Amino acid sequence: APLVGVIGMPVTQSRSPRLHGHWLARYGLPGHYVPLPVMPEHLAEVLRILPRAGFVGANVTIPHKEAVLTLADTVTDRAALIGAANTLIFRPDGKIHADNTDGYGFIANLRQHAPDWQPDRGPAALIGAGGAARAVVASLLDSGVRELRIANRTRLRAEQIRAEFGARLVVYDWAQVGHMLEGATTVVNATSLGMEGKQPLRVPLDALLPGAVVTDLVYTPLMTPFLAEAHARGCQVVDGLGMLLHQAAPGFERWFGQRPEVDDEARRIALG
Ligand code: ATR
Repeated sequence: APLVGVIGMPVTQSRSPRLHGHWLARYGLPGHYVPLPVMPEHLAEVLRILPRAGFVGANVTIPHKEAVLTLADTVTDRAALIGAANTLIFRPDGKIHADNTDGYGFIANLRQHAPDWQPDRGPAALIGAGGAARAVVASLLDSGVRELRIANRTRLRAEQIRAEFGARLVVYDWAQVGHMLEGATTVVNATSLGMEGKQPLRVPLDALLPGAVVTDLVYTPLMTPFLAEAHARGCQVVDGLGMLLHQAAPGFERWFGQRPEVDDEARRIALG
C-alpha cells in the first residue's frame, strides 16, 4: 500500500493525517498517511530515505516549505515563483518533484463558497506579505485580478513581493489599510492576526463595499473577528478552512489515484 506523510516540526497540530485518512477510508483505498516530525538538519536525509521506504510522496509544512525547493530534483514554476512547496511526489526513478498547491486551494475555496466571485470585477486587497501571502498573490494574479493592493506591517516585505510579482501590485502603507479597501471587490487577510490566542486584525472597514468577497487564511476560529465585522457590513465572507482542504486534494489524487471530494464531511473531519 502506498505511504504518504506530512513533514513538519512540530507536526502534531497538522490536520492532514485526519483528512487524508478519512478520504482513504471513504474511497476504500489502500494506503497510509502519517505525521513525520523532522528536524531541519535531518530534512535532506529523510527525503533521501522516504522513497526507499515505500513512500510515494509527502506534504511539507512549517518550517520546511522553503528548504524543500533546494532539495527537490524538479520544481513547478508556481512553486519556484512562490518560493515554497507543500506537495512532493516521489517518482519511480527516485526523483523528487515539488509543487505548491496552496494558491490552487485558496482559489478553489473562494469559488466553492462564493460561486459568483469574479476576480476581474475590481481591485483585490491583500493584508499581509508573509509566506502564506505569496501563494495568494500568485493565484490571484493567475486568476486575472488586474490590480492587487498589498499592505504589510513590515512594508519592505510587501515591496519585495511587488518587485518579484510585478506591476499589477500596488503597495500601501500599513497605516493606510482602511484606504486600501476602497472599491476592493476581493479582500484577504493573510496575516496571523485573529488566530486564537493572538490579537484580532483591527482594520477600519468603513470603505468596504457591501458585496465584496472577504476571506481569511486563519481558520482557528472559523469566524475571525475580521470576518464577523465584514459579514455585519454585508460582505460575502469565506473562512480559511476550505483552503486547507482544497490544497490537499491534488496531492491525494496524485498519490492514491482518486480525486477526493471537498464537502461538509471533510470539513467536519478536518476540524476534529
Ligand atoms: P505565514 O507563512 O503564515 O505567512 P509569516 O511569513 O511569519 O507566516 O507571516 C506572518 C504575517 O503576519 C506577516 O505578514 C506578518 O507581518 P510582518 O511581515 O510585519 O511580520 C503578519 N503579522 C504577524 N503578527 C502581526 C502583528 N502583530 N501585526 C501586524 N502584522 C502581523
